[in-house]
Amino acid sequence: PVLIVDFGSQVTQLIARRVRESGVYCEIHPYDKAGEALAALKPAAIILSGGPASTTEEESPSADPALFDAGVPVLGICYGEQTICAVLGGKVESGHHREFGRAEIVITKDSPLFAGIGAVDHRETVWMSHGDRVTAIPAGFEVIATSAGAPFAAIADEARRIYGVQFHPEVAHTPRGAQLLRNFTHGIAGLDGDWTMAAFKTEAIARIRAQVGKGKVICGLSGGVDSSVAAVLIHEAIGDQLTCVYVDTGLMRKGESEQVVSLFKNHYNIPLIHVDASDLFLGALEGVSDPETKRKTIGKLFIDVFDEESSKIEGAEFLAQGTLYPDVIESVSAKGGPSAVIKSHHNVGGLPDYMKLKLVEPLRELFKDEVRVLGQELGLHADFVGRHPFPGPGLAIRIPGEITREKVQVLQDADAIYLEEIRKAGLYDKIWQAFAVLLPVKTVGVMGDARTYENVLALRAVTSTDGMTADFFEFPWDVLGKTATRIINEVRGVNRVVYDVTSKPPGTIEWE
Ligand code: XMP
Repeated sequence: PVLIVDFGSQVTQLIARRVRESGVYCEIHPYDKAGEALAALKPAAIILSGGPASTTEEESPSADPALFDAGVPVLGICYGEQTICAVLGGKVESGHHREFGRAEIVITKDSPLFAGIGAVDHRETVWMSHGDRVTAIPAGFEVIATSAGAPFAAIADEARRIYGVQFHPEVAHTPRGAQLLRNFTHGIAGLDGDWTMAAFKTEAIARIRAQVGKGKVICGLSGGVDSSVAAVLIHEAIGDQLTCVYVDTGLMRKGESEQVVSLFKNHYNIPLIHVDASDLFLGALEGVSDPETKRKTIGKLFIDVFDEESSKIEGAEFLAQGTLYPDVIESVSAKGGPSAVIKSHHNVGGLPDYMKLKLVEPLRELFKDEVRVLGQELGLHADFVGRHPFPGPGLAIRIPGEITREKVQVLQDADAIYLEEIRKAGLYDKIWQAFAVLLPVKTVGVMGDARTYENVLALRAVTSTDGMTADFFEFPWDVLGKTATRIINEVRGVNRVVYDVTSKPPGTIEWE
């Protein structure tokens, strides 16, 4: 594997993505735990990430010298290069010559790092983002590329196989950055790129069997991709030692509960307890219009219901969860202090401590797109694993104001038409998330010769890579027009449709 040491860059996860895309397993660990990670992971190569700090300041994070003594190749990116220089005896100065954005490097010396990219004098476009720069390199190093703002744009100690680049090969704006990383992991470190989803699946099954033995496992299905993939994987490992519990809140998309139940029960033959708790949830939400109270009410009730059902499964020792890698990575950038709570994301499946079940989390090493590939490897349909994210509190946070069964149904019907039109237009996979919001606002319309006075429905569609920031999706007008016409004609209770063109920030993706 490759050890990625995180110094707090916003794009550290991208390094991991690129490395994994080339078929090499890697893990991200914070710089202050790099020594432990080195011992535990026994990596064949090490990559030091970028970061916001300056090595010229005291107490700035620095690379553990043990990393350079491990005898394996090291690549420092941006701050990573600077910390190599600071630790091994070079010099870094706070830049009077800051470089941000597109830049050009010139290769000044042949190096295996540039294999297939270029030889001496070749110019290559890269993406830079640095204030400090290296002004002297440690003994044993030589410059292998320069740029206008960074005379030490790339450096190498070929004998010790330690490399530093001032630019960011992991971002898409460095067109041949993936090739450079591959040169490092495959060419220089000699890894052969045999980490595939098929291999992961086999290993994961073996690990689940080893962890669980003859024990019983409970898995809370949310209807989402992660818990579904986890359940199918675990079932493949231990068969009917697994029981799934699906708490139907009545707040899912149209037809989704039926889909989940039929997929698991009939298709996969996985023991499934389907709890229809919609009366309970809608009852508890009666009169509630504050978004945070909605979330808390649903979160608490969910745990109560799940708890009650799973306590009926005798002798269960394990609880399966679809935790993903981004939730596991100890983020250096997140250590910067408390960030404001915008929404209390209740994640379905969180359980009180007193249940004392041991966790089985077979997806903890995977990114979302890898989970999708694994799902397909397990026979789940591409449409199913490619579904847009759906919030735990479901449609409750897409009905501003009070929730009633009738409103939920109107929203389900309208939402289904919207998604159907998006799929028909071939746009579903271009959109991160699309959904309708039923507004508590009535407006006047005219249908036939009669006046109508009904609710407004808002359509939302955004592009995003992680849900943290988002842009509204630019629909062709005809798709929006057709969707609006169909919804108003086919769904009783809606007589006007509007499209939300707010990006995030300043908006959020959901309306509540
Ligand atoms: P916002 O609205 O915060 O949403 O921009 C970002 C992403 O998170 C989802 N979301 C939630 N997911 N429980 C969840 O499990 C929640 O309470 C919740 N609120 C928002 C949202 O759908 C989007 O994908």
